[in-house]
Amino acid sequence: MKYNYTSAKGGSAGGGSKIIIANWKMNLSIKESLLFVKNLKLTKNKAVIAAPFTFLPALNKAGAGKKIALSAQDVSSFEKGAYTGEVSAKMLKEVGCSYCLVGHSERRIYFQETDKVINQKILQLLKYKISPVLCIGENASQRRNKATKNVLKKQLILALKSVKDPAKILIAYEPIWAISTFQKGKNKQAAQLSDITAAHLYIKSVLKDIYGAKAAKVKILYGGTVNPQNAKAILSLKEVAGALVGGASLKFSSFNAIIRAI
Ligand code: PGA
Repeated sequence: MKYNYTSAKGGSAGGGSKIIIANWKMNLSIKESLLFVKNLKLTKNKAVIAAPFTFLPALNKAGAGKKIALSAQDVSSFEKGAYTGEVSAKMLKEVGCSYCLVGHSERRIYFQETDKVINQKILQLLKYKISPVLCIGENASQRRNKATKNVLKKQLILALKSVKDPAKILIAYEPIWAISTFQKGKNKQAAQLSDITAAHLYIKSVLKDIYGAKAAKVKILYGGTVNPQNAKAILSLKEVAGALVGGASLKFSSFNAIIRAI
């Protein structure tokens, strides 16, 4: 079913400013990234750029962290030592990262990342005071089989094992079937507002079971085909604290429109 986000009213824009994270994945160049950030102007919403590792020193040096916050897209589950090719949380801190994506579905699917490894990464990040952005979400067949809640609950419980205080954690609800690169054809769709609201409320309830009142501090973002056409309706939902944006974050004009959508 085609859903018309432009005419959707959404809820009241609850919670003040929103966090909008650009997930550039393995795209752009250092030069393009510097120009992108140079063109960004401050908004009431918080822009975060999740850049490839090699861009981070240049973006940090260019003072990007003042206008935007920097995020990595991944981190090692180990603290230091003989782990060829790995980048530690301490190294990310050194180049100005205040956020790091963890457990993105592409890492779970293409790199066989397990909930246990995701948990170890989160613990490393928290040790170095970097906010983990934990990505969770069901795939199309799990959704068809009405297993969404079970999947979300399991992913949350395993990823947050031994995390005593969730205040620094962000959750990105990213239903795999709604991520643009996993959809075929031209007519890519985000999840419907009712699906997003239901999943976010469920995630909140699981967090409340684990953390009690402290759970209220956890920000829950939505990701999956957020674009300039649907951003206003999605970000206006009071359960949605922000968005994780892939494809539409690669062009300055569309990311700029999204961070100014509400
Ligand atoms: P998308 O990607 O916005 O292109 O759907 C989101 C993501 O993969 O984080």
